[in-house]
Amino acid sequence: MPHDFIPVGAPVHRRILNRLETAMVARRNVLEIIPALSYRQPIVSGEMVMRWHMLADPAGMKRVMLDNLPNYPKSEIMKRMLRPAIGESLFNADGPNWKWQRQAVAPVFTHRNVLALAPAMTATAQRTCARLARGGRQELVAEMLTATFDVICDVALSGREHFDSDTFGEAITEYFRTAGRASLLDFLAVPEWFPRPGRLLASRSVQVMHSMVGAAIKARRRDANPPADDLLARMLAAQDPETGHRLSAEDLIFNMQFFIVAGHETTALALAWALYLLANVPEEQERARAQARDRLQGRAATPEDLPHLPLARQILEESMRLYPPVGLLARTVLENDELCGREMRPNDIVFLPIWALHRHELWWDQPEHFRPNRFAAESSARLNKYQFLPFGAGPRVCVGADFAMMQAQIILATVLQNFEFTPATPAPKPIMMMTVRPEPGVFLNVRRLG
Ligand code: HEM
Repeated sequence: MPHDFIPVGAPVHRRILNRLETAMVARRNVLEIIPALSYRQPIVSGEMVMRWHMLADPAGMKRVMLDNLPNYPKSEIMKRMLRPAIGESLFNADGPNWKWQRQAVAPVFTHRNVLALAPAMTATAQRTCARLARGGRQELVAEMLTATFDVICDVALSGREHFDSDTFGEAITEYFRTAGRASLLDFLAVPEWFPRPGRLLASRSVQVMHSMVGAAIKARRRDANPPADDLLARMLAAQDPETGHRLSAEDLIFNMQFFIVAGHETTALALAWALYLLANVPEEQERARAQARDRLQGRAATPEDLPHLPLARQILEESMRLYPPVGLLARTVLENDELCGREMRPNDIVFLPIWALHRHELWWDQPEHFRPNRFAAESSARLNKYQFLPFGAGPRVCVGADFAMMQAQIILATVLQNFEFTPATPAPKPIMMMTVRPEPGVFLNVRRLG
């Protein structure tokens, strides 16, 4: 019997907002700038200082992310929000500057290297269970952030000697709340040199984060026996084969900063949303728990278990369909092109609302319902690869996707085996600043099972 729980959505405005309204709602919740039509039509266009398009069409996504990628570099609006923290590092760079940084980083994330990190993931899952064992009403975003932060410190810096996770965590949140907030001035296309309110607070949080990352890099440079193959070691050794260019001290900080933030925040959100969904649909929770118990027999999950735990994967995928941690991307058009039969002109902005693509009436059956089953092997074979893009696609696909999925599955299966989750108040609402966060958190009652 299908359940009738409808997971919480974002407010949708029936008409297209004007420039000022867009700027206002974007400060509150970026998801609100997606018009109702974008959940029904492949493309919606308008003009606001510049021509813009909201593309929620698999074939169009393929053209932007793969077939005509060089024509769609990252948009200046997004870069501006991220630049104070991550400069022109991998995520923000385009063209040759992107290419060589990607080549330098990619080997750290090959499947073999990710497998080598799995014991850290399993140990983290065990520690998470020890913390949850206190039972009662708990806030799960914070719990999941602690769990994933542990692992990213291992992969990025081979440890966390230079990190006080609470201080770093507070700085991240502060940054998202200030610089991360889509600035009114950015939407009005005011030049970057113009002073922006919130920049001061943002720059304080960036300073805190950068000084912690900087201390870790300095310690590594002094270390006579550095650990063999973590991300920092690769970054220090990286060199552009064509130009001989190396990452400057600042580039290093920017890149490490991005990895530490992106590498744990997104995965923690996927996990927290998954637990919210499962708490509200006990039959799905019970099914996944039975599978985990059957396979794990009380121990924590390892990568060898994952092929035997397909429900944990399906739940995470369905959770990222409904709540993609990266809910909206933006690109700029370089040269004339066509998307969904519509003319693209130089300097147009193309929004890629992953959120709306994943809840689109044309591509999904009952898009608002939680149905992990969609991602079962038989049915997911029918999905178009470009209708489900939590990690993006093409050459700029998320470099940490494999890492994120492995870690999330290990944690989810281990935790579900040992605990029952039921909803507590307040219920979460999805708010996108830079990522789609549940506000004010995911509050659940946690009960340890015998
Ligand atoms: C559930 C977890 C995650 C989600 C949903 C996610 C999502 C994404 C998305 C959508 C993009 C593409 C952005 C674009 O096309 O503009 C991306 C890129 C990227 N992600 Fe992730 N990510 C996750 C985890 C991670 C992890 C664990 C790491 C590293 C440890 C990571 C590092 C990166 C990097 C470096 C890029 C830029 C790649 C490039 O431009 O070449 N991500 N991610």
